[in-house]
Amino acid sequence: MVTIIVGAQWGDEGKGKIVDVLASQADIVARYQGGANAGHTLVCEGKTVVLHLIPSGILHEHVRCVIGNGVVIDPVALRQEIAMLESLGVSVRGRLFISHKAHVIMPYHKLLDQAREQQQGIGTTGRGIGPAYIDKYSRVGIRVVDLLDRAVLEEKLRINLAEKNALLENIYHTDRLDVEAIVAEYLEFDRFIDEYVTDTTTLLHTALRDGNRILAEGAQGALLDVDHGTYPFVTSSNPTSGGACTGLGIPPTAVERIIGLAKAYSTRVGNGPFPTELHDATGELLRSIGSEYGATTGRPRRCGWLDLVALGYSVMVNGITELALTKLDVLSALPVIKVCIGYRIGSQRLKGFPVDTPTLMAVEPEYLELPGWQSSLDGASTFEDLPLNARRLIELIESTCNVRISLVSTGAQREQIVRRT
Ligand code: IMP
Repeated sequence: MVTIIVGAQWGDEGKGKIVDVLASQADIVARYQGGANAGHTLVCEGKTVVLHLIPSGILHEHVRCVIGNGVVIDPVALRQEIAMLESLGVSVRGRLFISHKAHVIMPYHKLLDQAREQQQGIGTTGRGIGPAYIDKYSRVGIRVVDLLDRAVLEEKLRINLAEKNALLENIYHTDRLDVEAIVAEYLEFDRFIDEYVTDTTTLLHTALRDGNRILAEGAQGALLDVDHGTYPFVTSSNPTSGGACTGLGIPPTAVERIIGLAKAYSTRVGNGPFPTELHDATGELLRSIGSEYGATTGRPRRCGWLDLVALGYSVMVNGITELALTKLDVLSALPVIKVCIGYRIGSQRLKGFPVDTPTLMAVEPEYLELPGWQSSLDGASTFEDLPLNARRLIELIESTCNVRISLVSTGAQREQIVRRT
């Protein structure tokens, strides 16, 4: 049985913690898209661990972790992450499985990402994600399996570098890259990852046949999806639930639950439309209480009120069967909480989430104001333990988006979770 965990907003909904919590009841956690642009933060026994590529189940000893074919792998980030986990006493050997079919981020992807960013202004993480997916779809990408054979790697690199060096030198005016140096670096990387590489599609299907429970872990969020997000201010993969099937090679019929993660307010890193963004002291307060700084780039995140138009759209596109509401504790200090329940342009009320970015940029949010609870959520473990006004907010989200909230996160620690029966 497969459960998909998907970010229902613009990423940073707290997937690391929720996957870590749910992983105690899973056999496998598998990442299906994105790369080291993601930063999944977990707090375990007082230690904060930030994972970029390795699935957030790794801290549970019984869990096997898969990096699926849909992920783009940065060798530098992967090595650092494995070393970091080992230094914390977390064994990765024999528990991490990497798809042969995953594409590899090359040095030119990062250079091109950073150079193009200056022209495009998307606010990318600069990790080479877009250019790596461009190469995948142009059918010139280098996959993990290509590292096995020096001749194949050299041939593919020569073809790629002929084009990339011309771009780097003539269009972006940076230095050219050397084939030999990259071949040497990546063959060395191949020796390093060799023990982890396997046919993950077969591994997952065998696990399904054996009745194992698989958590498919998305990175980023639905509103950053290259097809369904706020294009062009999106990432270059499909964080939406459908991406789990293509990014892991599992059929839609194997999926039983789709858990959407939504923060009790909204954040966005990078550029692009954000109807409920706050440019005032409340926005600052959310940023500082919620520690809203990028886990990968350290950039301050843009903060705003919860947007139920965007969340309702996300519930629809992903087929979300239940929501996990995160960071509810961050709202505890506020006397009044606003929630966006509609969009307007002038006197016209829009019917749903606009299909085009210029319209989304122009909308004015319609808010419902709810009284806050102004008390701590510490110690709450059931829905009834939550203050009345927090429960009202939860019920408003449920009735507006027509989906049940089954988990509420009230802090960074594993234990700070409310399970709804
Ligand atoms: P890219 O994925 O680096 O190409 O960046 C494209 C957009 O997605 C930028 O606005 C990034 O800030 C955003 N983005 C990428 N990864 C994450 C993430 O893990 N959390 C939140 N935003 C992200």
